Amino acid sequence: MVDIETVAAGGTTGKKLVNEPSDPVLPASSHYKPSSAAGQSAAVSLEKVLTTPAVRKIAKENQVDLTQVRGTGPKGRVLKEDILLYLQNRGRGIPNLPPVSAPVSSPVSAPVSAPASAPTPISAPTPVPVVSGVDQRVPIRGVQRLMVKSMTAALQVQHLTYCEEINFDALKQLRSELKSSMAKRNIKLSYMPLMIKAASLALLQFPQLNATVNSEVTEVVYHANHNIGVAMDTAKGLVVPVLRSVQAKSLAEIAQELQVLQDAALKGTLTEAQLQGGTFTLSNIGSIGGTYAVPVLVVPQVMIGAFGRLQTLPRYVNSRGQPATVEQIEDGEAQVCPATLMNVSWSADHRVVDGATVAKFSNVWKKYLEHPASMLSDLR
Ligand code: COA
Repeated sequence: MVDIETVAAGGTTGKKLVNEPSDPVLPASSHYKPSSAAGQSAAVSLEKVLTTPAVRKIAKENQVDLTQVRGTGPKGRVLKEDILLYLQNRGRGIPNLPPVSAPVSSPVSAPVSAPASAPTPISAPTPVPVVSGVDQRVPIRGVQRLMVKSMTAALQVQHLTYCEEINFDALKQLRSELKSSMAKRNIKLSYMPLMIKAASLALLQFPQLNATVNSEVTEVVYHANHNIGVAMDTAKGLVVPVLRSVQAKSLAEIAQELQVLQDAALKGTLTEAQLQGGTFTLSNIGSIGGTYAVPVLVVPQVMIGAFGRLQTLPRYVNSRGQPATVEQIEDGEAQVCPATLMNVSWSADHRVVDGATVAKFSNVWKKYLEHPASMLSDLR
């Protein structure tokens, strides 16, 4: 299993739980509720519910007693989603949920008058897997249980992470040329087979990175076969099936095998054998999103790479279309052009791999992808 921390450019955005600043949280000033205390049948308990004008408006339009709505905000404040959930449940005949805590008690001035107009229909919120109202206890089983094991093992290893930007302009061109001819053979050519093959070619020069280390950290095995695990997102969670002997396979064979594994992963039919024996791992989180990802090692392997999302961004190039040097930029001999870029992050087991080796490996991999014709000379 493999896990990553994703880092979005410019930081992450958090979901706002309360209403807008222009929508200040105020106590509802006029809600009456019959007291439940015996012998007080004639009395009413005046309860002040913390909420916002917007929520009070919805309550009023739908004739909702706010004291009956469970508030999930601070101090039991009734949020907009609380009242929407209440209305949704009411529509389905689901009993009301009690308030989380006693509402703030203070005398209030006047009861709410009945609404003059008909209640405004509220569209049901899109169903999302949000725990609302009642806490849920979910056992950690199956794929998730395996993830616990592998992440616990990875925690014992000191990781080093190294990041680089790759220009995909040439690879994009090559892929578009190959894609249709491969499609005629029923082969889907995404960028993954190209990145996998480039990694395998680079590993031929750095066999110490296609390796596993024993638990006592007394021995490293440099593997002859490049058995490259590919992290895949499935409905049941993350799985990492393995493409075997990549060093001996053509691009078409890699693409076909990847497709077979991806189909099996999505159907949940991967076998134990297809998930074992990896010597190196790649994870393309960019197909989902994110510009950078920090990958976590699949112990006992010593290296893993994670790819971010392809982006088109401005970069300086010289008159030959190559990345411009600082001098060329300063001398006005460079211009800004759009470039297709992807970030890669390599994590390695720093107990047995040093940063310089990772950087040199990354440089070779980068060269293959930025000048894909160079892969031809090294293909077997
Ligand atoms: N940035 C932008 N687009 C990308 C991309 C990237 N990094 N990687 C792939 N794409 C594009 C592909 O080119 C393809 O577009 P196309 O149909 O126009 O060619 C599309 O996204 C879908 O690609 P996909 O079917 O996912 O194939 P793939 O070979 O690129 O990736 C997997 C295969 C299995 C790696 C991928 O489907 C997946 O599961 N990724 C998630 C891995 C993950 O969860 N990692 C996290 C580990 S914690």
